[in-house]
Amino acid sequence: MTTKEKVRDLFEENRGVYFSGEEMAQRLSISRAAVWKAVNALKKEGYVIHAVTNKGYCLSGQTDVLSAQGIRKYLSLGIADMEISVFPAVSSTNTVMREKALEGAADRYLILSNEQTAGRGRSGRNFYSPGDTGVYLSILLRPGEYLAGHAVNITTMAAVAMCEAIESVSGEKAEIKWVNDIFVRGKKVCGILTEGSFSLENGMLEYAILGIGMNLYDPKDGFPGELEGIAGTIFQTRQDDGKNRLVAEFLNRFYACYQSPLPWDYVKKYRERSMVIGRQITIGIGEEIKRGRALAIDDQCRLLVEYEDGRQECYSSGEVSISWDREKR
Ligand code: BTN
Repeated sequence: MTTKEKVRDLFEENRGVYFSGEEMAQRLSISRAAVWKAVNALKKEGYVIHAVTNKGYCLSGQTDVLSAQGIRKYLSLGIADMEISVFPAVSSTNTVMREKALEGAADRYLILSNEQTAGRGRSGRNFYSPGDTGVYLSILLRPGEYLAGHAVNITTMAAVAMCEAIESVSGEKAEIKWVNDIFVRGKKVCGILTEGSFSLENGMLEYAILGIGMNLYDPKDGFPGELEGIAGTIFQTRQDDGKNRLVAEFLNRFYACYQSPLPWDYVKKYRERSMVIGRQITIGIGEEIKRGRALAIDDQCRLLVEYEDGRQECYSSGEVSISWDREKR
């Protein structure tokens, strides 16, 4: 661990507490000059550090910088030891995680980035991932005996956990557009992309990568034209420690469900947050576009649709995209 990381972690574990330079130097077995240098470097990274004569240094509660220690301090006991890496920018956290998975990274490895230069969405689309205003993360899951066909449950469990995390940190209501988009105040604030590798021999999931992109704040230059009116933000103003709190709240809720011996209750919560049930929708299946009415979401989170001729069809994720007329229900 570098000197700067040691100083950062001491601050993160003691937000709002003043330490003299002497005390920090002693606790961390470094020189006072090294403390001073680390404090200045952290300030440049966005940490708000107060320096008061006769009191020393203190990390302000307002600081909103993503860090492993910043997340860990909010994690539930069962997952507090998960390995976490935070990067300023990567191409795509899912792409980086895939390389790590192939190199043998362990279950529960978490990668986060403040920016993605080649963020990926569903159906080969790009995922806009500007620096500083969003959080982009991937979790490696090695579930053991897990049928590949159940991988969709990872996405839908994550959708419920994300809604609950948003609601607990921001107080805003979060809804799910089947199957993997999270909406707040009528706009998409978060997308989920689960990718996996499965065995052709037994159809079991070898590993899954759960990737989540969250728009916390307005991007500096706004959203690009094609996302205007579609993309939104979780928060309307800057939050004290918003990034670390939101990520930790999500992880606590996701793992509570994913590791539960009886996780299926979450499907009820998924349905309660659905923006789709009862709506007239347009469904894209490959090149084909159809109109229908979303009737229900079944216990496997499949969407049941009724067409104008009365025919009904059940869809799994991945095969369809849906949109709707805002006014019509
Ligand atoms: C979608 O809305 O179509 C899904 C978007 C998923 C984006 C996340 S950001 C972290 C992870 N890395 C990626 O490249 N994509 C996912």
